[in-house]
Amino acid sequence: MNGPLLKVENLTKHYPLGAGIFKKSIPVIRAVEDVSFCVEAGETLCIVGESGCGKSTVARLLMRLVEPTGGRVLIEGTDIAGLKKDALRAWRRRMQMVFQDPHSSLNPRLTAGQVITEPVENFECLSRKQRQALAAELLRKVGMSPEMMHRLPSELSGGQRQRLGIARALSLKPSLIIADEAVSALDVSVQAQILNLLLDLQQQMGIAFVFISHDLGVVEHIAHRVAVMYLGRIVELARSEALFENPVHPYTEALIAAAPVPDPTRVRLEVPVEGEVPSPINPPSGCAFHPRCPLAVERCRAEIPPLVPMADGRLVACHVRAPATGQSAAAANFSAATVSAIRSP
Ligand SMILES: Nc1ncnc2c1ncn2[C@@H]1O[C@H](COP(=O)(O)OP(=O)(O)OP(=O)(O)O)[C@@H](O)[C@H]1O
Ligand code: SF4
Ligand SMILES: [Mg+2]
Repeated sequence: MNGPLLKVENLTKHYPLGAGIFKKSIPVIRAVEDVSFCVEAGETLCIVGESGCGKSTVARLLMRLVEPTGGRVLIEGTDIAGLKKDALRAWRRRMQMVFQDPHSSLNPRLTAGQVITEPVENFECLSRKQRQALAAELLRKVGMSPEMMHRLPSELSGGQRQRLGIARALSLKPSLIIADEAVSALDVSVQAQILNLLLDLQQQMGIAFVFISHDLGVVEHIAHRVAVMYLGRIVELARSEALFENPVHPYTEALIAAAPVPDPTRVRLEVPVEGEVPSPINPPSGCAFHPRCPLAVERCRAEIPPLVPMADGRLVACHVRAPATGQSAAAANFSAATVSAIRSP
């Protein structure tokens, strides 16, 4: 395969807020603004950021569950916007989603076995024997006993339901799984089991993950690269070790400073961030982070900082920490260059 598995270029999603009297005056929620990134086969890209910053909207755009206001999503070089019904169905086999709340995303009337085999049966007819064999194989793969195939989702624990959701996602042998807060509702010990399961599956099957989480502990455990979002935009995109050891964007620094530190020997950074995330309906001018940023200067109020490639390959959008030179600004403004600059080695 030439090029990345998934390439996202300048993706934008605005939700209109009601109907204005004059069309021009309809306010919009700027859920996602000019987001570009790529994901290689077998890679885990984590997307982090506070509530409402647009993480789930990016996931829905990737699955084409909502249509973008602007920008493109390419899977293996094919723009998914141009796919007709059959091609879209075939492409959806390659990308599967695992949700935060398996209880509400699994049909309560189907047994675990039926939940798992349902996606495959949308594409091909299976005999009873084939169905049972497939359900047993996938249950084993996610560490559950095949006997569980006769149980209803309500008869399973939270961790078992999440394993079932993963087994269902695996049934079509996807190249990419989009997991939106997939472990957030689980106890810490069950979280660790599910994360290790995902890492094992990635090694065995070469699956790529777009893993959305607000929990930096989880992200540090599984990410190859991390995209930090603030109010709809990516503000830093870096390899995981580099991001956690040396965050460059003041917002990344603040997020890491605010996260619980599992390792007591690790020095906690002290960057105060005050106030709430501003409204995406009327975001602050210039850098949207400026009302909360301890480093803000006059320019921050006037100009949106471009994502600029740094010496170590990461991308940062900050006038103070990553001032754009003519060359880097040109690279950052050209989406294809941006995407290749943030590719993992
Ligand atoms: N269908 C919709 N109609 C209108 N606004 C929406 C819709 N979906 C999301 N939004 C808005 O878009 C913004 C981004 O929402 P999104 O769900 O993507 O955030 P998130 O980062 O996933 O948050 P959380 O961490 O709470 O899940 C929010 O302001 C949200 O209210
Ligand atoms: S651009 Fe300015 S306000 Fe935005 S993060 Fe950088 S210093 Fe802070
Ligand atoms: Mg969300």
